[in-house]
Amino acid sequence: MKVVTITSKLLAPAVAKDLSSEFLKPFYKEFPDGEPYIRFDRRFDDEEVLFIQTTYPDQDKRLHEIYFAVHTFKRCGVKKVGAVIPYLAYMRQDRDFSEELGIGYEAISARVVVKNLENCGIDELYTVDVHSTEILKQSSIFVDNLDPSHLFSKYITKRKIKKPLIVAPDKNARPKVLNIANSLDTDYLFLEKERDRVTGKIKTKDLLSSLKAENVVIIDDMISTGDTIVESCRAIRKAGAKNIFAMCTHALMVKDAEEKIIRQGIEIISTDSIENKFSKISLAPLIVKLFKD
Ligand code: R5P
Repeated sequence: MKVVTITSKLLAPAVAKDLSSEFLKPFYKEFPDGEPYIRFDRRFDDEEVLFIQTTYPDQDKRLHEIYFAVHTFKRCGVKKVGAVIPYLAYMRQDRDFSEELGIGYEAISARVVVKNLENCGIDELYTVDVHSTEILKQSSIFVDNLDPSHLFSKYITKRKIKKPLIVAPDKNARPKVLNIANSLDTDYLFLEKERDRVTGKIKTKDLLSSLKAENVVIIDDMISTGDTIVESCRAIRKAGAKNIFAMCTHALMVKDAEEKIIRQGIEIISTDSIENKFSKISLAPLIVKLFKD
């Protein structure tokens, strides 16, 4: 099996190394207007390819690179393309919310993106901690959404964070928080978050009692604007929390997210689904486990 990437520059070679597979990068350049040009200087007759490619930053270009590369693999004789898209963009808009809002018709972006991934020739699609699995469940190809919870537990243990209280900032994070708290045999807390669908503003309900835990670890699928983490922090600090860590799978860190969070004295820890300075947990073991015979 050949492991190929354009954008997952640390994760893909790490996976290739652990699988003892050849690692390849296509010739890549941008046309003067920014459109991607991709070229493979060989054929892949009857070979299997594992294409590892994240889709942030610059999600539209990253997705087009996937469509172009996978289409080319098939033209070059590849028998099977497994695509690992550790962060799959557009999955938050997985339905038309317009009825609730009383306005027009919304694009169901997640459905269109998954359709395009199917159509370009991917045989198996793997992603990690996707925001919503609804659309993936309807896919015509094999799809697997990988759960990184045990990697988070391992990291918390390695960092020797004593008696951590594992916190879910919203409903979406609850299953992961339960997994992590159970595996560490420690306490957990579910916060109540509300989002105004029109303004996008969020509010976390204050806690009714004070917290005993000194160390709090907030777990989320992604940090985008950072508002969820900052609001969660406000509520738990008010209840007495001291050391707060924010752990997420996907650190998008949009605009001033980093500044807003660091100002609260919170350490940010994420996986390498998006490679940046917060990528302290590698997803490589999760991916390698799938393909190691
Ligand atoms: C929401 O349901 C998600 O699980 C995240 O909590 C959210 O997307 C984080 O976004 P932000 O950092 O903009 O609050």
